[in-house]
Amino acid sequence: MSDPKKLFIKTYGCQMNVYDSERIAETLGGSGYTQVESADDADMILLNTCHIREKAAEKVYSELGRFRPLKEARPDLRIGVAGCVAQAEGEEIIRRQPMVDLVVGPQSYHRLPDMERRLAKGERAIDTDFPEEDKFDHLPGRRRANRAPTAFLTVQEGCDKFCAFCVVPYTRGAEVSRSADRILEEARMLAADGVREVTLLGQNVNAYHGAGADGEWDLARLIWALSEINGLERIRFTTSHPNDMNEALIEAHRDCAKLMPYLHLPVQSGSDKVLKAMNRKHTAADYIGLISRIRAARPDLLLSGDFIVGFPGETEADFEDTLSLIREVGYGQSYSFKYSTRPGTPAAERAQVDEATKTDRLHRLQALLSEQQTDAQEAMVGREVGVLFEKVGREPGQLIGKSDHLHAVSAPAHESLIGQIGRVHITAALSNSLSGVLTTG
Ligand code: SAH
Ligand code: SF4
Ligand code: F3S
Repeated sequence: MSDPKKLFIKTYGCQMNVYDSERIAETLGGSGYTQVESADDADMILLNTCHIREKAAEKVYSELGRFRPLKEARPDLRIGVAGCVAQAEGEEIIRRQPMVDLVVGPQSYHRLPDMERRLAKGERAIDTDFPEEDKFDHLPGRRRANRAPTAFLTVQEGCDKFCAFCVVPYTRGAEVSRSADRILEEARMLAADGVREVTLLGQNVNAYHGAGADGEWDLARLIWALSEINGLERIRFTTSHPNDMNEALIEAHRDCAKLMPYLHLPVQSGSDKVLKAMNRKHTAADYIGLISRIRAARPDLLLSGDFIVGFPGETEADFEDTLSLIREVGYGQSYSFKYSTRPGTPAAERAQVDEATKTDRLHRLQALLSEQQTDAQEAMVGREVGVLFEKVGREPGQLIGKSDHLHAVSAPAHESLIGQIGRVHITAALSNSLSGVLTTG
């Protein structure tokens, strides 16, 4: 046997890319590669990229520039670009950075072993197809390198919604759901490997509609089936679209003990005019009504959202509608962005809001959201929560984990509790985490 070749992967973007990077490493494992933590002595460097905003896409080119000296020193080094920039830009990447050997879109990762053989012969390999075959049927089984007690699991990919600002329908392709059997099989494998918490992923995860044992299953049905797997204690899912939140899923939040009380439900804007221009296909009132139904089912649910400021046509009054929606709903966690013009999307053609206005609105929005986040953290003080311990903390004798509500929590606890769920009495809210003491071992 020859020495294993070294693979360095750098991941950008959403959790699906994190999951994909693990599957890429597993796939190239079959071609003799072992994943390493540093690019310096790697045989192959792969950037798994994100195209969602301009800055994310530009990062790829500056990162590639940084690798040039490595490639010049070792011409055998293979450099590849995977993910959504690869899908969006294809061969253009090689025109801008001729040292790139491999370009592979998100739906072609199962073809990496073939592509790697071409690289080994000194050829270039580019694949940005949306293949007929399902990559998930051709990727190898899970053999995780890390032993983390949490894992991502992609159940649905792609999007048919075409929000006017968004590249995802173009980079990930049409919405496709994996079969429930395959997902359950993967989840059982993960549970047997020590995984206690699984986060189901999809660009529109609650639009899940995969083939089940008795016809088509929705996400709620899948969650109930997953909840029967021994060892798997917690289930989460992300990202959801408000229009796909069906009654069964709301009921699962009420009745399924393993489904955690946390929901990421982006609204983007609180102005009906902007929502319509974004092609979100719901109003602010629809969203607020939905949230109150979900909260009636699960009162202690922690809500998270995504917001865009400065979408083309957004006036000060529209922006204030977003602030008032936020005040009315109340978010424990949030992600907010200045609108970024993406070539090829409908909103890119419209009159743009100026940069200074976007910056000002983002600051005001984030001030409100961070106030709400602090309030939500402080509201946890004095409560007892479940915490899945993931690793040792910075201070000796401390472990760090995530609460049911996805807050980072630290508590004095023995290392043997890593990978287990403890009950923690929260005693303090720090700037970005909570601390507490174990109530039971
Ligand atoms: N499928 C999810 C979101 C996927 S993208 C949904 O529909 O909610 C993640 C987030 O990035 C979006 O919710 C949006 O807030 C943000 N985003 C997407 N395109 C953007 C753009 N062109 N400019 C700024 N933010 C954007
Ligand atoms: Fe993008 Fe989400 Fe809209 Fe799909 S639903 S187009 S992924 S923002
Ligand atoms: Fe980015 Fe692609 Fe995810 S554009 S957010 S990596 S789906």
